[in-house]
Amino acid sequence: MSIPTKMQACQLSQYIQSSFTDLDASSLTEALKEYIAVEEVDVPKPKKGEVLVKIARSVINPSDLSSLKGSYDASGKPNLPFRPGFEGSGLVVASGGGVMGWSLVGKRVAIVAGKTGGVWAQYAIAPATQCIALTDDISYDTAASSFVNPLTVLSFVEIARAGGHKYIVHTAGASALGKMLIKLGNDEGVQVIAIVRKSEQVEELKTLGAAEAFSTSSDSWKDAFKQKCKELNCTLAFDAVAGPLTGELLHAMPKGSVVKVYGGLSEALCTVSPGDLIFQNKKVEGFWLTEYLKTKSLVGLYMWQRKVRSLLNTSLNTHVRASFPLEQVPEALQAYISDMSAGKVLIAPGFLEEEASSSGSSNAEASETKEATSGEEKKEAEVKEEEAKDKEVAESNE
Ligand SMILES: NC(=O)c1ccc[n+]([C@@H]2O[C@H](COP(=O)([O-])OP(=O)(O)OC[C@H]3O[C@@H](n4cnc5c(N)ncnc54)[C@H](OP(=O)(O)O)[C@@H]3O)[C@@H](O)[C@H]2O)c1
Repeated sequence: MSIPTKMQACQLSQYIQSSFTDLDASSLTEALKEYIAVEEVDVPKPKKGEVLVKIARSVINPSDLSSLKGSYDASGKPNLPFRPGFEGSGLVVASGGGVMGWSLVGKRVAIVAGKTGGVWAQYAIAPATQCIALTDDISYDTAASSFVNPLTVLSFVEIARAGGHKYIVHTAGASALGKMLIKLGNDEGVQVIAIVRKSEQVEELKTLGAAEAFSTSSDSWKDAFKQKCKELNCTLAFDAVAGPLTGELLHAMPKGSVVKVYGGLSEALCTVSPGDLIFQNKKVEGFWLTEYLKTKSLVGLYMWQRKVRSLLNTSLNTHVRASFPLEQVPEALQAYISDMSAGKVLIAPGFLEEEASSSGSSNAEASETKEATSGEEKKEAEVKEEEAKDKEVAESNE
């Protein structure tokens, strides 16, 4: 497979200062065009342990919006120009070395890049350990959301179960993550009390399987929520909104409750009543997937990747609403911001248009590079791949 030396990639020239919600649709698109452009750059070269992926799809997440504002990571901003995009799917076209990297060449994969981003481009680098090889039934669209939200949902369910919680509160309840949490939680014995800000989402989430749902647009939500948490002895919340909502949850929940803040969608500081902290033994904590994953062994992570892959078309599925070419990233961002609960908006760099629009079974380019196509050969290749991965995992654990 020939790899060009140059590629098209999205570049952010300055961090965006204003709030995305302050501008109307056309002003927002025009403003974004001042900051984001597609440029010709060198195709990056993978180092040992990394692979080069020809990108089929990349998803827009709230963390991407934060990265465009330079506010994603409190420890510092990446240097400009910055190439955005954390998560996506595509075809591995080269390896920088290492058993795992070589075993992925020619495979369709889901990837997550490091915090330096770079996936809104025709090619991107990913650590081989942060690639999930896709089965033929998983489309590139679906695979574009394989890491950040699914692994966070697995973490939340694990935390809840470890603490003996049968119910958890979840804000931004109609988000892609929120819908996954309801479905996976129901599979695994943890039910969700969802909090949203739009009343029309209440019934939708209950139909999906939420134990209860409340809209903060209703005057009486706090009393009803307090009553429900008491009745169900619900003392754990995961809050993606922050701002005053964090304190409102904490105040309404029973003595000893914990609110774990894991997003800042309101773009406001958390406000909490000191009395709840002092006299009610309530706590506010943070959750960041990157830190949580450090508590897991390599084998544990590998098992989670396998679990995600097996559930991507069911409990951990993400609804995709639209795809935009690389040149229309400002329009894609505008479409996403205009209705975040309606489904994910993807960026499609265009190379794999034909393959990306169908499932992997018709992925011509991937098939060309795959050595094994018959049932038996394929199975053997998969077993070898699993063995190689297990060996690499075992070696890293020594
Ligand atoms: N800490 C971590 O490690 C970690 C990992 C993964 C995800 N996350 C966080 O998880 C959250 C959900 O991600 P996602 O990809 O599932 O999101 P998404 O599908 O893109 O949806 C975003 C959701 O946020 C809601 N929302 C936006 N602004 C809001 C506000 N000011 N007040 C209340 N709701 C608001 C939207 O609801 P409307 O319909 O009301 O607009 C929508 O449901 C994000 O905050 C993300 O940063 C954090």
